Order: sequence, then C-alpha cells, then structure tokens
Amino acid sequence: MDHYAALSAILDDRSSCRQFLPDQVPRDMIEQLLQLGQRTPSWCNTQPWQVVVTEGPATDRFRKALVEHVQSGVAPSPDFAFPGQYTGAFRQRRKDCGLQLYDSVGIAKGDHDATMRQALRNFELFDAPHVAIVTTEADLGVYGAVDCGLYINTFLLGAQSLGLAAAPQAALASYSPFLREYFELPDNRQVVVGIAFGYADRDHPINQFRTARETLDNVVTWHTD
Ligand SMILES: Cc1cc2nc3c(=O)[nH]c(=O)nc-3n(C[C@H](O)[C@H](O)[C@H](O)COP(=O)(O)O)c2cc1C
Repeated sequence: MDHYAALSAILDDRSSCRQFLPDQVPRDMIEQLLQLGQRTPSWCNTQPWQVVVTEGPATDRFRKALVEHVQSGVAPSPDFAFPGQYTGAFRQRRKDCGLQLYDSVGIAKGDHDATMRQALRNFELFDAPHVAIVTTEADLGVYGAVDCGLYINTFLLGAQSLGLAAAPQAALASYSPFLREYFELPDNRQVVVGIAFGYADRDHPINQFRTARETLDNVVTWHTD
C-alpha cells in the first residue's frame, strides 16, 4: 500500500459538508470512526478529548433545542474567544470561502436575510443525522485544545476514509454554556467544536465548491546556511 497516495486521496477528497442525507450511520461504523480518533497523538498522551455523540431521535431533539436557544436571542458565549479580527491574507481567505459558500446557494452579497438563514443552518446541523461535540479539559489549557484540534482532524479524515462526510463547526461552540447544560457536562469541560456528520447529499449545490490552499512559498521559510 502506498501510504502517501492513500493519505493524499483522503485529503483531496475531503471537504466540509453542509447538507446531509437523513440516513443514520450504523453504530458499528461510528465506533470504527471513534476508534480512529483514539489513535490521535496528544501532549504527554493526556488524550484530553471527550466526545458526546448523538444518534436517532436524540439528534433531532438536540437540533430543535439548539435552534430554539439561538433564536431566543441569547448572546454567544464560547469557551474559547473567537477571532477578534481578520486582517490581510486571513481576511481575504475568509472572504473567498464565504463568497464560495454563498455563491453556491445563490445568496447575493448584501442579502442580509438569506445570509442569516444560511448561518442558522449551522444550528440545524445542516440536517445531519449525528453530531459529535468535542470538549477539552480546562486545566490543560491551550495545548489541550491543540490536542483536540488534532483529534478533530483524525475524525474528519477518518470519516472521509469510511465514506462519511463531516462539518467541523465552531459555530456550535458559540453556545458552550447551553451545550454543557444540555449534555450535563462538568464545568471543567470546554467545548472546542461540534462536528455534524453522516452521509453527504452529494448533489446539493452547497457541497459542490472546494476551497483553495496556499502554495508552499507563502507558508514555509527555509533556513539552510
Ligand atoms: C475549527 C473549525 C471550525 C469551523 N467552523 C465552521 C462553522 O462554524 N461553520 C461552517 O460552515 N464551517 C466551519 N468550518 C469549516 C471551514 O470553513 C472549512 O474547513 C474551510 O473553509 C476549508 O474548507 P474545507 O473544509 O471544505 O476544506 C470550520 C473548520 C474548522 C477547522
């Protein structure tokens, strides 16, 4: 087996899914995915991630409760501060991927109502049949969150390798206190992201665009002498 080719194919084929089919993923396949996640490296092998996974009616119940909570107008309160501002290249890349997303579903620039409706789709979990809420341990600080970031990537690539699709969602972490209460999580657990997952609706326009990546020249600095 050519490992490089296999990993490249998984990375090339993966993209964030924003419209799922309703079909449930069999429990044993979800467990296969979670087993892959367990092989993620972490600092001192602390494995700070804990994951809440929904299936069956529990996903719909949570989806409904979350949308109601968001629409009640309560202020977002993420455990980890969201970016304060996006400048330069970061601003441009954010703008480009936003435009791709809105273009894909025909939302015109400046159409505030349609933009808000699309943003709300995050809380409807893009109709996914499952969500995984990934939390870290507060005492482990920023590196605990880094470890969870690695876990999230294993989850995303693992899902792709199993023919599943996934959407990492910081949007869900905006309502961390609600998630902690709803899922009865201890106070020392901090929400990193939610990951909606299931089977992609491959024909839906929102799943057609692919985001760009920088060339190495813009990322790597070599020091040789
Ligand atoms: C930590 C993290 C949080 C994200 N949060 C959201 C989100 O709340 N809503 C969303 O639609 N996409 C979210 N995304 C998806 C990114 O927009 C997406 O990964 C990026 O544009 C690259 O596109 P790709 O995943 O299709 O390769 C998130 C991605 C990551 C890694």
